[in-house]
Amino acid sequence: MHERGYYGRFGGAYVPEILVATFDELEAAFIAAKKDPSFWTEYSALMSSYSCRPTPITFAENLTKHFGGARIYIKREDLNHTGAHKANNVMGQGLLVKRMGKTRVIAETGAGQHGVATATMAAKFGLECTIYMGEVDVARQRPNVFWMERLGATVVPVREGTRTLKDAINEAFRDWVGNMDTTHYVLGTACGPHPYPELVTYFQSIIGQEARRQMLEITGRLPDQVYACVGGGSNAMGMFSGFFSDSEVGLVGVEAGGRGLETHLHAARLCSPDASVGIAQGYKTFFLQNQDGQMNETHSVAAGLDYVGVSPILAHHHETGRVRFEATTDREVVDALALTVRKEGIIPALESSHAFAQAFKEAPALPRDALILINQSGRGDKDIFTIADAFDDPSWRQFIIDKAEAYRAGS
Ligand SMILES: Cc1ncc(COP(=O)(O)O)c(C=O)c1O
Repeated sequence: MHERGYYGRFGGAYVPEILVATFDELEAAFIAAKKDPSFWTEYSALMSSYSCRPTPITFAENLTKHFGGARIYIKREDLNHTGAHKANNVMGQGLLVKRMGKTRVIAETGAGQHGVATATMAAKFGLECTIYMGEVDVARQRPNVFWMERLGATVVPVREGTRTLKDAINEAFRDWVGNMDTTHYVLGTACGPHPYPELVTYFQSIIGQEARRQMLEITGRLPDQVYACVGGGSNAMGMFSGFFSDSEVGLVGVEAGGRGLETHLHAARLCSPDASVGIAQGYKTFFLQNQDGQMNETHSVAAGLDYVGVSPILAHHHETGRVRFEATTDREVVDALALTVRKEGIIPALESSHAFAQAFKEAPALPRDALILINQSGRGDKDIFTIADAFDDPSWRQFIIDKAEAYRAGS
C-alpha cells in the first residue's frame, strides 16, 4: 500500500536530518517485532491481564427500539484500563521501548487521555516520563494533569503558539532531538511521520480484529455500517482495520463539526472545504490551515478531536472513497451522549459521542435487520466539567463554588 510510509499521496517522514537514524531504529524495531510471533502473543497477554481485553460488544437494545431502524451494537473500548483505546497503543509502544533498551519516554497530550495512558505505562514498566501539554489544555484538563503527576510523570506546560496540542507535539519533537539515545517518543495517534501512522494502527487493530470476530459470533454476520470518531484517527483506524477488506461493510469516520461547518469553528479536515493538503509536523495530509500554511484555530466540545491534521491513511481512504466522512456538531454530540446515558446506562466520552450522533442520524432510515456497530473509544467520566456546563446543571455549579470557597477560606 505504501512506499516507505506513503498512502496514496499522503504520509511520508519529513523529519530533521538529526532524527533520521532514530526513526530508522524505530522502524527496524517495529518490523522485527511484527515478524516475531511471540511479540503479538506477549502484547495480547499484557492487554488481557492489564487492560480487560477483549473488550465486549454490547447490544444497545433500548436505543435500537427508540430509533426503530437498524440494530445498534457498541464496541466497548471505554472498558480499557485508563478508560479509552489509548491504552492499546501505549502498552504496545511500551513493549517496543523495552526491546530497544530505552529508559525514558516522552509524549504529547491534548485532552490528557494519552498523557495519562503513557504515564501509566511508564509507571508499570519503570520508565522515566515527560509529558508535553499546551498551557491552555493544562488549565482545562487539570484532573488528568493531577493523575499524570501522581503516576510519576513530569508535565511540561507548553507556552508557544496557541498553547494547545500541535504546540505540544512540536515541543516533544524538540525534546527528542536532544535525547534520542535514551528516549522514545510515544506518539498518541495514527498521525506524524512514518512509521507512526502504521505503528499506532498496528496496535489499535486489536479493536477491529476482536470486533469482526465478535460480530460474527453474536449476530452470525458482519455489520452493515461501522462508525468511529476521528481525531488524529487511531481508534477509527483500529476499528476499520478489521473490515477494510470486507467491501460490503460501510465505514464512516465522524469528525468534529464544532459549532457547525459554516461557522468555520470546527475540526473537520476531511469533510469540510476549510482544509487543504500540506506538510506539517513531519507528514503530508489535510490540514486546517490558511493560504500561507499557518494553522487555523480549531474548535470542538471534545478536546481529543480538536486537532489541525488527520491520519494520512484516513486521508487516503477518503480519496479512494473506502471511508465516508461526516461531521456532527457539539449540540448533536451532547444530545447523543445524554440519550445514550438514559437509554443504555453507558456514558460515552464526548469524542466517542460524535460516532453515536452520526449513527443515530442514520439508524432510523435503515431496515430493521441492518446491523450498526459504533466504536465507543472511551468513557465520559473525564468530561464531567464540560458536560455539566452543557446541561447547565445548577447543583454541580454550586458544588464547584462551595469547593472553591472552602479552598479560599483554608488558604
Ligand atoms: C476517548 C477518545 N476518543 C477519541 C480520541 C481521538 O483520538 P483518535 O482519533 O486518535 O482515536 C481521543 C483523543 O484524545 C480520546 O480521548
